[in-house]
Amino acid sequence: MKSYSSSPIGSYIYEYAKLNRLVITDIRIIATSDLSTVSLISLDSGQKIILKVGKVSEVIMDEYFNHSNLYSHWQKHKDKFDFKIPRPLYFFQNHSSYLMEYVEGAKSLDEVFCASLMDSRSNLLPKLFARVGVCLAQYHTVFTQMRPNTKSVLDHDSVDGLLSGSGKKEYLQIYRTFPKKCYRNILKDFKPQNILVAGEDIYFIDFQKIDYSAPLYYDLARFIDTLHLFTFLEKPDQYFKNRKYLAKSACSFLSGYGEVNMRLLSACRRLHQLEHVYIKRKKALNAFILFLFYKLIIPKV
Ligand SMILES: Nc1ncnc2c1ncn2[C@@H]1O[C@H](COP(=O)(O)OP(=O)(O)O)[C@@H](O)[C@H]1O
Ligand SMILES: [Mg+2]
Repeated sequence: MKSYSSSPIGSYIYEYAKLNRLVITDIRIIATSDLSTVSLISLDSGQKIILKVGKVSEVIMDEYFNHSNLYSHWQKHKDKFDFKIPRPLYFFQNHSSYLMEYVEGAKSLDEVFCASLMDSRSNLLPKLFARVGVCLAQYHTVFTQMRPNTKSVLDHDSVDGLLSGSGKKEYLQIYRTFPKKCYRNILKDFKPQNILVAGEDIYFIDFQKIDYSAPLYYDLARFIDTLHLFTFLEKPDQYFKNRKYLAKSACSFLSGYGEVNMRLLSACRRLHQLEHVYIKRKKALNAFILFLFYKLIIPKV
């Protein structure tokens, strides 16, 4: 793990700590992606907090705003949810970053899944996947009722971009087959990496793209496609041996969610796959691998 406690990125954190009479003993990066760096800050009191630094300031500002809004709604309706959300703590306007509660002992669901491939006693996992399905259904129901007038996912950058190219006809033809009654406020980036498991608790994280309305199948499709993709990339040797297990886990997730129309789900997976390849278009090799994975390897149902 890389430590950057003496670099400029850390200096405002030390000022913040001083103002709040906190003593930082360590800052270390625990995850990086194209859009952000997530670090764990340790305090001398033994407490730990998360610092998420965005590479694009508007994006991280929207994310903090969404996260804070969601957290306050979640707090008011806690009894309706079987999942938690880490408490947002402070936004650094000039440093494209924010602090939030650290979920002690958290592992992302994809890590838990990959570890279970090696463990023959993994019969607890279908229950966990079913619970994640229940949590998503709770999110969809409550947040759709609470905020009925969200933007259409067709206006989201990546879908909008896709629609300005040659994929438009196929995308819209499929999109129009979804009945209005299946529209919900979606999380949009609902993938196993954005679900944390800590002991008995399930946490949702990473709320950059929420606030779009789309068929509920959108979140189901992203979850299933990325579960396959991540397992294939992380454990290619295990992926082919465990396809039945993967299908069973996906089934448990869907049964937890509730009534799912498999034809609509597969239609939405096609939409998700078109959008996913489009998002990766600037990295031609990645986009091509993804295209091949979706065309040749991932099961269609
Ligand atoms: N509040 C938290 N507590 C513990 N770990 C976290 C927390 N937030 C993020 N992480 C870790 O950092 C990873 C990336 O976080 P995420 O917010 O999804 O960043 P990104 O936007 O780059 O995807 C997560 O998968 C998890 O391992
Ligand atoms: Mg994430």
